[in-house]
Amino acid sequence: MTPVATARALGEKAQRMIDALTAISASPDHLTRLYLTPEHKRAAELVGEWMREAGLSTRLDAAGTMRGSMPPGRAGRSGNKALLIGSHIDTVINAGRYDGNLGVVVGILAVETLKARGVALPFGIDILAFGDEEGVRFPVTLTTSAVTAGVFDPKALDITDDADITLRDALIAFGGDPARLKDEAYQRPSVLGYLEVHIEQGPVLERAQEPLGVVTAIASQSRHRIRIKGEAGHAGTVPMNMRHDALAAAAEIILAIEAIAKKDKKNSLVATVGHVEVTPGASNVIPADVRFSLDVRAANDRARQEAVEAITLVARKVDRTRHVVVGVETMLEKPVATCGVRLQKAIGKAVTTVQGEPARSLMSGAGHDGQSMAHLGEFGMIFVRCRAGISHNPAEFVTIDDMGLAVEALVETILELARQEEQP
Ligand code: GLV
Ligand code: MN
Ligand code: MN
Repeated sequence: MTPVATARALGEKAQRMIDALTAISASPDHLTRLYLTPEHKRAAELVGEWMREAGLSTRLDAAGTMRGSMPPGRAGRSGNKALLIGSHIDTVINAGRYDGNLGVVVGILAVETLKARGVALPFGIDILAFGDEEGVRFPVTLTTSAVTAGVFDPKALDITDDADITLRDALIAFGGDPARLKDEAYQRPSVLGYLEVHIEQGPVLERAQEPLGVVTAIASQSRHRIRIKGEAGHAGTVPMNMRHDALAAAAEIILAIEAIAKKDKKNSLVATVGHVEVTPGASNVIPADVRFSLDVRAANDRARQEAVEAITLVARKVDRTRHVVVGVETMLEKPVATCGVRLQKAIGKAVTTVQGEPARSLMSGAGHDGQSMAHLGEFGMIFVRCRAGISHNPAEFVTIDDMGLAVEALVETILELARQEEQP
C-alpha cells in the first residue's frame, strides 16, 4: 500500500469511529454528551473497547477518564516513562462531532498503526480519553485532566450543576471515587510528555490550504459567574422608574462586555456570555434574579486580566446606578500555556513530512486539556484543519483525508521522539 492509501484507510476508519461516538448522545436529534452522564459512560466504554482491540490495557479512573496503557516495547533511555496522548469525549450542547473525539480516535489509531508496523518503542504510551474539557455541566473545566496532572482543587467537588447536583455526587453516581482523585495523578518523572491532536476550531489552516499545523500555545482564559439580585414586581403596575430589574441590569453589563472586548487593538481579546438564567422567568414578572456566565480569553494574561477588571468596574457601576446587587465570582483562571519547544519541533518535522509542505505554527484560542497536562512536563499539539473554521456547532467538519494525515503525523511524531531516545 502506498503511504497515501494508508492515510486514506486510516481516515476512513477514523470516520467510522467518529460516527459511532456521535451516536452516543443525550438527544436523538443532536450531539450532547456532558461530563458524568450515562452518555459519557457509554462513550468511555466504547473507547475502552477500541483501546483493548489496539492492544492496550484499560481502566476507567476515579475521575471518569478512560486510560489505555501500553508498556515500552524495548529498553531505552527513558526507562519506564510513558508518553501520554489524549483528548476529550465530552461535548458542548448541540456539538460538532470532531471536537475532542477526533484526538482520542487518532491516538488509538496511531498506536494500532505502530503495532501493525511492528514498531517497538523505547517508552510506554498511555492514551487518555478525558471527560471534562468543555466544562459545560459544571462551571469549572478540565476536571479530568487536572486530576491526571495532580492539580485538581478538591474544593471544586462542592460546585453544583443546573440541577443542584454537586460534582462529588455526580462522580459517585457515575462510579467514580472523589476520595481517590489525588491518587490518580501521574508523577512528573514517569511522564515523557503529553501530545494531543485536535481540530483547529478556527479558519487559519483552511485559508492557508494546509491540512495540519503545530500549536505554539493556548490562550489565557478565565470563567466567571455574575449574579444580579433585583426585585420581583408586577409587570403591569410598577412604574419604570421604580423598578430594580435584574435582567435589564444584566443586559447593560453584557453589552459593556462586548464593547470592552471589541476595543482590543490586537484583536486577541474575546469575551462571551453564553448562559443566562432568569428568575422567576415569567412574562408578567419583573426579573428578580439573573445569573450569567462570562468567558474571557486573550493571547496574554495581562490583556485578559485588564478586561476582567474593566468588566468588574462596569458591574459595580450598574450595581450603584440601578440599585441592584451585582456579584462577580471567578470560577477558573488559566494562564497562557506554552507548548514545549522539543515537542513543537518534533511535531513540525512530522507534519512537514506527512503533508509535504512546511508546517505552520499557530496559537490556540480554544482551551484544551494541555493546560492541565503542562503541569506534568512538556505538552505539544497537532491542529487539524476544519471546514470554515466552524466548531461548537453541528456543522463542524473534517475530511477523511485530513484525519488520515493526522494519524500519520502523530505516528511520525512518536517515531521522532523514539529516534531522539537513541541519540547520545
Ligand atoms: C473548549 O472548547 C473551550 O475552549 O472552552
Ligand atoms: Mn476540545
Ligand atoms: Mn470544545
